[in-house]
Parts: sequence; C-alpha cells; structure tokens
Amino acid sequence: MNIILLGAPGAGKGTQATKISERYHLPHISTGDIFRANIKNQTEIGMLAKSYIDKGELVPDEVTCAIVKDRLTWEDCKNGCLLDGFPRNTFQAEELDKFAKIDAVVNINIDFSLLMDRLCGRRVCKECGESFHVSTLNGATTCSRCGGELYQRKDDNPETVKSRLDVYDAQTAPLIDYYTKKGIILNFTGTEAPASVLFEEVAAVLDQKIR
Ligand code: AP5
Ligand code: MG
Repeated sequence: MNIILLGAPGAGKGTQATKISERYHLPHISTGDIFRANIKNQTEIGMLAKSYIDKGELVPDEVTCAIVKDRLTWEDCKNGCLLDGFPRNTFQAEELDKFAKIDAVVNINIDFSLLMDRLCGRRVCKECGESFHVSTLNGATTCSRCGGELYQRKDDNPETVKSRLDVYDAQTAPLIDYYTKKGIILNFTGTEAPASVLFEEVAAVLDQKIR
C-alpha cells in the first residue's frame, strides 16, 4: 500500500508519519529529510537543495522526482511506502502517477494561525529526529529520548516559514482537489490536541483499508 501524507508545513506530517510507519510497517520517505541528509553530507544535490530550502522554495521537480523514483525501487518499498512531503505540486503528482499506484492520501487540514509558533519553536534531535517545542524543554538542549543534541532547522524562522506557507497555498493545496477527484483522499483536521489524538483518528480509518 502506497500512502501520501499531505499538509502544510508544520501540519504534523513527520510526526504522524513516524507513527503510521511503525504501525503499518511502511518505510517513511520524507523528501525534506532526504534533502537535509544531503545538505549535511555536502553532496551536489544537497548544495543545490539548500539554495531553495533556505528561501522556503521548492527544490526543482526534476531533481525531486528522480530521487523519489529511485527510492521507490528499493527492496523495503516492495510492499508499499509512506510518502511525506512528496508530491508537492501537480507536476510531481502527475509524475508519481507514472511510476507508482497511490492507494490513499492522508490530508491534514490545519488553521495556519497554529503553524508559525509550532515551526519557529520547533527543536529537532540531530540523532533520532524527534521534534520538541521550545516551550516544553525548560532550557534543555538535548533530546529526552536519546540524549542527542537539539537544533533548530534553518528554514524554521518567521520569514522562511511565511514563504513556505505561501508556496503551500499556491502549489501544494491544489493537490487536495487532485486526489479528491481520484477518490482516494482521507481528510483530517489538525488541532492543538496532542499528536496522538490525531493519530488515533488516522489509524481508525487506515485500519479499515489496510488490515
Ligand atoms: P519538509 O521537510 O517536508 O518540511 P515542511 O513540509 O515544511 O513540513 P515540516 O517538516 O516543517 O512539518 P511537518 O508537517 O512534518 O510537521 P512536524 O510533524 O514536524 O520540506 C522542507 C523543504 O524541503 C521544503 O520547503 C522544500 O524546499 C524542500 N522540499 C521537500 N519536499 C519537496 C518536494 N517534494 N519538492 C520540492 N521541494 C521539496 O510538526 C511540526 C511541529 O509541530 C513539531 O515540533 C511537532 O512536534 C509539532 N506537532 C506536531 N503535531 C502536533 C500536535 N498535534 N500538537 C502540537 N504540536 C504538534
Ligand atoms: Mg516534516
């Protein structure tokens, strides 16, 4: 089963992806994580991606689509995968349709007013990738799960977040319509309730489809 997670920056795609991936044994493929790993390793793709990510713009489609197309050929995807942050525009969605059959799209609708604080206050563990909000850390600079160092993503600043939200509105939100027309969208609402509450709702629907 191939599942897409759709939602604005900060909607909770990554948070839900970790839980969905564990429950249904699907590899979590986040294009944002792939780009950040490339930036860390200073690869050619990383250097190119960084110039777009730092401005909150989309990395060019040819590069992004080629990465995902290759990733889906890996052995761990033979029973399906969970795509987080891909596709992000109609071109990518149409390309994806050429090399994968998508079974479900988990779409997280969320009020934009919640997102600026969520993203600018986010701190991420360098080791395990767990996210925290600065307001809950009491000054801690290490991860309570694994002890890794916490850092702030470079694109989690007010100016870049604003541009990421604008890009979402203009280029990614039309995919809701794209997948609604295909009859495979599952709509959820992100709220201030803990992420586990949303996951229970998502799992209740996915259980019907997967198990
Ligand atoms: P990407 O890494 O995908 O970032 P994004 O889409 O902007 O989304 P985020 O990862 O910031 O948020 P999220 O929805 O995963 O939320 P999270 O679970 O972390 O992409 C980064 C960049 O890479 C793009 O801007 C672009 O440049 C490039 N890129 C990536 N894919 C691309 C593509 N396909 N094409 C071209 N370019 C591409 O949650 C956010 C915070 O909220 C966390 O702190 C979390 O703990 C907290 N939280 C989550 N749920 C809740 C809850 N229920 N209540 C309270 N807090 C919550
Ligand atoms: Mg994410």
